[in-house]
Amino acid sequence: MKCHLLLAMIGVFAVMVVAQKQEGFISLDCGFPIEESPYSDLSTGLTFTSDSTFIQTGKSARIEKQLNQNFRKPYLTLRYFPEGKRNCYSLNVNRGTNYLISLTFIYGNYDDLNVYPNFDLYLGPDKWRRIDMEGRRSNGTKEEIIHIPRKNSLDICLVRTGTTSPIISAIELRPLRNDTYVTHSGSLRRSFRVYLSNSEREVRFADDIYDRIWTPFFSSRYTQITTNLNINTTDTFEVPKAALSSAAMPRNASAPLIITWKPIPSDAEVYLYLHFAEIQTLGANETREFDIIMKGIFNQSGITPPKFERLTVFSAVPLQCDLDGCRLELVRTPKSTLPPLINALEAYTIIEFPQLETNSSDVVAIKNIKATYRLGKISWQGDPCLPQELSWENLGCSYANISTPPRIISLNLSASGLTGSISPILQNLAHIQELDLSNNSLTGSVPKFLANIKSLSFINLSGNNLTGSVPQNLLDREKEGLVLKLEGNPELCKISSCNPKEKKGLLVLVIAPIASVLIAIVVVGLFVVFRKKKVPLDVHAPPSLPVANVGHSKHSEPSFFSKKIRFTYFEVQEMTNNFKRVLGEGGFGVVYHGCVNDTQQVAVKLLSPSSSQGYKHFKAEVELLMRVHHINLVSLVGYCDEGDHLALIYEYMPNGDLKQHLSRKHGGSVLSWKSRLGVAVDAALGLEYLHTGCKPPMVHRDIKSTNILLNESFQGKLADFGLSRSFPMANETQVSTVVAGTPGYLDPEYYQTNWLTEKSDVYSFGIVLLELTTNSPIIQQSREKPHIVEWVGFIVRTGDIGNIIDPNLHEDYDVGSVWKVIELAMSCVNISSGRRPTMSQVVNDLKECVISENSRTGESQEMNSMSSIEFSMDMDTEVIPKAR
Ligand SMILES: *[C@@H]1O[C@H](CO)[C@@H](O)[C@H](O)[C@H]1NC(C)=O
Ligand SMILES: *[C@@H]1O[C@H](CO)[C@@H](O)[C@H](O)[C@H]1NC(C)=O
Ligand SMILES: *[C@@H]1O[C@H](CO)[C@@H](O)[C@H](O)[C@H]1NC(C)=O
Ligand SMILES: *[C@@H]1O[C@H](CO)[C@@H](O)[C@H](O)[C@H]1NC(C)=O
Ligand SMILES: *[C@@H]1O[C@H](CO)[C@@H](O)[C@H](O)[C@H]1NC(C)=O
Ligand SMILES: *[C@@H]1O[C@H](CO)[C@@H](O)[C@H](O)[C@H]1NC(C)=O
Ligand SMILES: *[C@@H]1O[C@H](CO)[C@@H](O)[C@H](O)[C@H]1NC(C)=O
Ligand SMILES: *[C@@H]1O[C@H](CO)[C@@H](O)[C@H](O)[C@H]1NC(C)=O
Ligand SMILES: *[C@@H]1O[C@H](CO)[C@@H](O)[C@H](O)[C@H]1NC(C)=O
Ligand SMILES: *[C@@H]1O[C@H](CO)[C@@H](O)[C@H](O)[C@H]1NC(C)=O
Repeated sequence: MKCHLLLAMIGVFAVMVVAQKQEGFISLDCGFPIEESPYSDLSTGLTFTSDSTFIQTGKSARIEKQLNQNFRKPYLTLRYFPEGKRNCYSLNVNRGTNYLISLTFIYGNYDDLNVYPNFDLYLGPDKWRRIDMEGRRSNGTKEEIIHIPRKNSLDICLVRTGTTSPIISAIELRPLRNDTYVTHSGSLRRSFRVYLSNSEREVRFADDIYDRIWTPFFSSRYTQITTNLNINTTDTFEVPKAALSSAAMPRNASAPLIITWKPIPSDAEVYLYLHFAEIQTLGANETREFDIIMKGIFNQSGITPPKFERLTVFSAVPLQCDLDGCRLELVRTPKSTLPPLINALEAYTIIEFPQLETNSSDVVAIKNIKATYRLGKISWQGDPCLPQELSWENLGCSYANISTPPRIISLNLSASGLTGSISPILQNLAHIQELDLSNNSLTGSVPKFLANIKSLSFINLSGNNLTGSVPQNLLDREKEGLVLKLEGNPELCKISSCNPKEKKGLLVLVIAPIASVLIAIVVVGLFVVFRKKKVPLDVHAPPSLPVANVGHSKHSEPSFFSKKIRFTYFEVQEMTNNFKRVLGEGGFGVVYHGCVNDTQQVAVKLLSPSSSQGYKHFKAEVELLMRVHHINLVSLVGYCDEGDHLALIYEYMPNGDLKQHLSRKHGGSVLSWKSRLGVAVDAALGLEYLHTGCKPPMVHRDIKSTNILLNESFQGKLADFGLSRSFPMANETQVSTVVAGTPGYLDPEYYQTNWLTEKSDVYSFGIVLLELTTNSPIIQQSREKPHIVEWVGFIVRTGDIGNIIDPNLHEDYDVGSVWKVIELAMSCVNISSGRRPTMSQVVNDLKECVISENSRTGESQEMNSMSSIEFSMDMDTEVIPKAR
């Protein structure tokens, strides 16, 4: 008991220290093997991860062995790009946050050629800088800016300019306060950031909570003073104490202190931040007062640094130095008894990233198309249309001017090996004029939506395996001038009249069973209330899926789904060996094991005709699964729709569902904490995809531990989309619907208001997290607090969570990560949906838990980072300040 309590307290403390400090940091060690990632860099305590999930291209390499002791561990590996003109990292950031972005490039003769690389760096569509490693005094260089991203994703691209391959060693992003380093326009490129000291030590994280790097700078013209006393530096700029506890004064006490440098280019606009603190204990008759002068451009008179407290003087408007460079003078005033002093200073130049990126709905659409058809085109990285000379191949864009985002106007995926149906995502390319999908293996029907894309003037679908008939509205468009090419689709019917007529009588019969009763149990305040609710018939659009028709002429095959995945009842009987092996049973019917083509194992869900799920759910699930594809969603292999026989055929998930593993019904060993976190991340990613990756977004509506299935390698996938519902995106973000879901998992706000948002899934997911951690029933009347949310909330307030963590884990877990999961779960089940995190935030938090759990079990050991002789900061030599 006591032991639990102590452990828990230590856990909380550790999480606070570690997680709070590196919050929002992105630290990528480029080229580092993902199996050994993440690791903690011993010299800084920063947690670095492999870059491999942020980029699909490039190769890994290591710098020459004898250079190892010169560099910290994150700089020993690198990624180089022998292929493609442009290679891009795509990072998730928070739009509007001020980021310190630092890139490190160390050549280190990794290729044994001794040829220094030379390439361009781009931030999104804008050129950032030429990186030329020739003539650098060290083997490396750094590039750093302070920048506010306009979107939630940030592309960092390396562009080949000659024969050498671009390289990169590390990418580091640090969120800063939004009220510091503010500019009128543009971003800040660091010229230098120094503290005045004759030591050798670089100051950075954890001394600097934002991980700004302060390099020591001194001159023989200065005298140094230092202090051991505390300096108050807590607010705004938070300059680290280590950088303020020394200062320089001119050696000749009556002369000014002068610092000069040459910004690049020489007419660049400069921002300057000067940090002062009085660190001498002054006598009653002593004063220090001086003026700050940059001749003609900046004056600040009568500065007296506060005692043991920081004072920052900065230029509110950009300064332009004259052609000889910048000259900063600190001049003692007549009444001062002491010479001027300065502790630290930073100089930046303005760098503009003016180009507006391609319209973001076009970008999302084309990225979805890339994912849907698994297109591995190497040029498809970064912004699709910009810069113009690097735009994606097979795409055409319209360009107006720099203040108008480009649009995608043509797409040519001719002979690109496309399979499956024509994706509805295409209609999100709202300005597309020419669409060429010829000479692929596309199946299914010619979709109606093509006619709704008003801008289209040319469609080529020839040379595919399309079936069904051509929609009338498309033929009408053809009369108005649309060029439509369809030849080479042997089973395509070119006239619309061969459309099969819907059989309304049959439809009514199959819809009827869904008018079933769902029991919903909901927590309202402190009480658990049981209520019953009837689900009325959905009065909107009846299912238009034609039923039956088997055995008629080929041309009258229903065209809604791709023919390939439709199976006859006879085939279903065959694949299940006449329904021999039962995998499970539910309200909808029975699930059987099966085999397709003797090789692929499948799970066949046979819907009983009286199933409460009914035809509507069947159709919903088939439609959804046809449309969405994600590694963390159980994929549909096929379906059967033959009279009364409805079946859904899924990929087989040999390890059953999460619930079985928690309750140990599946046999085998206990699911470790690490595996549980892994499954949670998987499920969260699946859900995140439904919420943000699908257009329109989808709500799953029935997230629970029995709907999270595990494959042979215990990867988690979401199942059972029968209740899923998409909602319109434009003005409405909510949909009023009939309440559905599983008791205990059901969002009380949704239950009360009938307003469905994706936050209802977040609630249910929170319940799953509580289940994962405690392995307790969701509702247990014998508990003091029957519902798990109330119960865990009650225990957390007492602080003793040791008692509620699944005893099967035998305390083999990182307490910090368990706490964090519980905290996350409790925020997901917040009564108010507005206060719940988004699934993207959930994914991020869970990944942090994985990192802290991994670092507990991790084997990765530091080899070389103990000796941290950082390579000299080889910025442009001219920008290194000089003392006069
Ligand atoms: C890179 O490091 C090696 C070994 O320290 C040195 O010989 C070489 O001159 C360095 N290259 C540059 C450009 O400084
Ligand atoms: C900074 O962020 C706070 C809250 O995060 C916000 O209220 C404030 O308006 C922001 N300030 C600026 C200058 O963006
Ligand atoms: C530090 O400065 C802040 C603001 O100037 C002040 O409120 C605080 O009391 C100071 N703390 C100390 C220890 O002097
Ligand atoms: C010290 O500076 C003053 C003012 O600039 C100058 O007149 C004087 O000659 C300097 N003394 C020495 C020793 O350089
Ligand atoms: C300040 O006072 C001290 C004694 O308290 C004296 O030694 C010193 O000369 C004075 N300095 C000045 C500049 O008056
Ligand atoms: C700075 O001060 C000097 C003298 O006090 C004055 O001549 C000059 O115009 C001032 N410059 C600016 C930019 O304020
Ligand atoms: C992008 O296009 C969509 C639809 O065409 C439009 O609603 C949106 O305003 C555009 N966004 C920008 C940033 O121009
Ligand atoms: C850019 O083009 C748009 C559309 O053609 C036009 O409305 C706008 O005035 C142009 N802006 C500039 C700065 O030329
Ligand atoms: C699409 O590309 C193919 C070759 O890849 C070319 O033959 C065809 O003409 C292109 N289509 C259009 C509409 O330009
Ligand atoms: C089209 O389907 C037929 C059989 O239906 C098949 O033989 C052929 O290979 C398919 N063609 C393509 C390009 O997939």
